[in-house]
Amino acid sequence: IPLRQYNTLGIDAIARYFAAFTSVNELSELIEKDPIPGKTPFIVGGGSNILFKNNVNALVLKNDLPGLEIIKEDADHVYIKAGAGEVWHGFVQFCLQHNWAGVENLSLIPGCVGASPMQNIGAYGVEIKEVFESLEAWHLHEKKIHVFSASDCEFGYRESVFKGKYKNQYVILNVTYRLNKKPRFNTSYGAIEQELERMGVQELSIQAVSQAVINIRTSKLPDPAKIGNAGSFFKNPSVAAATFEQLKKQYPNIVGYPNTDGTIKLAAGWLIEQSGLKGFRRGDAGVHERQALVLVNYGHATGKDIYDLSEDVMKSVYEKFGVSLEREVNVV
Ligand code: EPU
Repeated sequence: IPLRQYNTLGIDAIARYFAAFTSVNELSELIEKDPIPGKTPFIVGGGSNILFKNNVNALVLKNDLPGLEIIKEDADHVYIKAGAGEVWHGFVQFCLQHNWAGVENLSLIPGCVGASPMQNIGAYGVEIKEVFESLEAWHLHEKKIHVFSASDCEFGYRESVFKGKYKNQYVILNVTYRLNKKPRFNTSYGAIEQELERMGVQELSIQAVSQAVINIRTSKLPDPAKIGNAGSFFKNPSVAAATFEQLKKQYPNIVGYPNTDGTIKLAAGWLIEQSGLKGFRRGDAGVHERQALVLVNYGHATGKDIYDLSEDVMKSVYEKFGVSLEREVNVV
């Protein structure tokens, strides 16, 4: 089965077997009848953070679990349980319509609800962990549902146990989010402030913040429906404060933000651009011309083409700055 439509990079990888599930029963039946027993099935959601480097010699299962449900409410919060297969931005719009705050900064992130805790998605000063209440996940070997609290998930920067120590062991079934009835705006990210001003917004609202985010994203990030991409391909690397000072002497314009632990997070997009690679293209694999942190597939790049390009980007950045980049996407 071709996987092209199941990964936003648009890589033409092949799955040996493929099926979709819309309920836990279907999931457990499919696993029961796995044509390659003993080989862990591979779960895909929106496919927005995957690089298929090779064909997948396993049963690929697409998570289509639906549902948006209010499960609890108190004076300040609404708790929404969302099926892992729900489109993320659809969930954001649902919250905006009801005036529930907390995810407006995370507007237009590609992918599904199930991926949001997987790598603690974040943008414009907000991470999912701030509105995360709990999730239910199916253990592939024990064939049981486990409940995870925020601390069980061990959220970090684009990290959780599901990308780390429990990789490929669980299927996320649903996520419960805790939305705020009264908004707590986060416009600390410079670009948002500027965009709100440009839009002429007088009174802040979650709808206005969402629109500002959408405007910024669409001006910089390629639409995966038009040009294959997986958002940021690399993480922003952190370096020791002393290293940052050294780099700053040589490159006074270097972009860095302090982390709470005293290290400095560098903008990988800036490092890649300064390495001369912004807009670089080899065959159908390229570095996006407006955001160097995004690798793109102009049409028929193979997984290996994209992977090789990512290796070259990492090598160039290391040679120029002595900084190692780490991939954010899951390489399969
Ligand atoms: N920059 C450049 N050249 C570039 C790209 C960026 O000089 O080609 C500079 C910008 O001028 C800015 C800085 O780098 O000073 C940061 O750029 P930007 O605001 O575009 O954000 P980012 O650090 O590149 C991160 C996330 C994005 C998220 C944005 C906004 C990571 C790996 N990426 O990107 O998340 O949308 O911040 O909050 O943390 C994703 O994870 O897939 C993703 C898109």
